[in-house]
Amino acid sequence: MDIDIGISPKDRKKIADGLSRVMADTYTLYLKTHNYHWNVTGPMFQTLHLMFEVQYNELWLAVDLLAERIRSLGFQAPGTYQQFAKLTSIEDEEGVPVATQMIRDLVKGHERVAKTAREAFPAADKVSDESTADLLTQRLQIHEKTAWMLRSLLEDAGQSGEGRGEGRRSSDKKAKAK
Ligand SMILES: [Fe+2]
Repeated sequence: MDIDIGISPKDRKKIADGLSRVMADTYTLYLKTHNYHWNVTGPMFQTLHLMFEVQYNELWLAVDLLAERIRSLGFQAPGTYQQFAKLTSIEDEEGVPVATQMIRDLVKGHERVAKTAREAFPAADKVSDESTADLLTQRLQIHEKTAWMLRSLLEDAGQSGEGRGEGRRSSDKKAKAK
């Protein structure tokens, strides 16, 4: 039975293609995050192991929402490693990186998916496909927020926590005294 939701087949195809790229990026980032959950080592182990678990679970659920939106538009969702490898713009990391490199790599990954989602937007916007626009908006929010959280871990990594804390506190006192 033909689909009759007020969007032409050509426009539906264009939107589905954009969503397929977002889906491939999301799946690739899911696998990468799960891999880092398993293989992370070092003093930040507990924090990162748990943080990555929250993140890969979220990505896993998102893959399903993206696939089902593609199906609702009348197209097949990608579902093989070959298809994902062809569609994704996220690259595999060689070997097992150290913890800080894992974080950097995941920041880049979330930023990459955000860009892919943003690229998919105009096709949906053009034909008032609010359902896709809403899904893309949610994905953008999550990826930008997760990138910020991961980035924040790196900002403390290169600095002496003790010295910084003490310095800040005494200067705060001085600021209050004035
Ligand atoms: Fe686990």
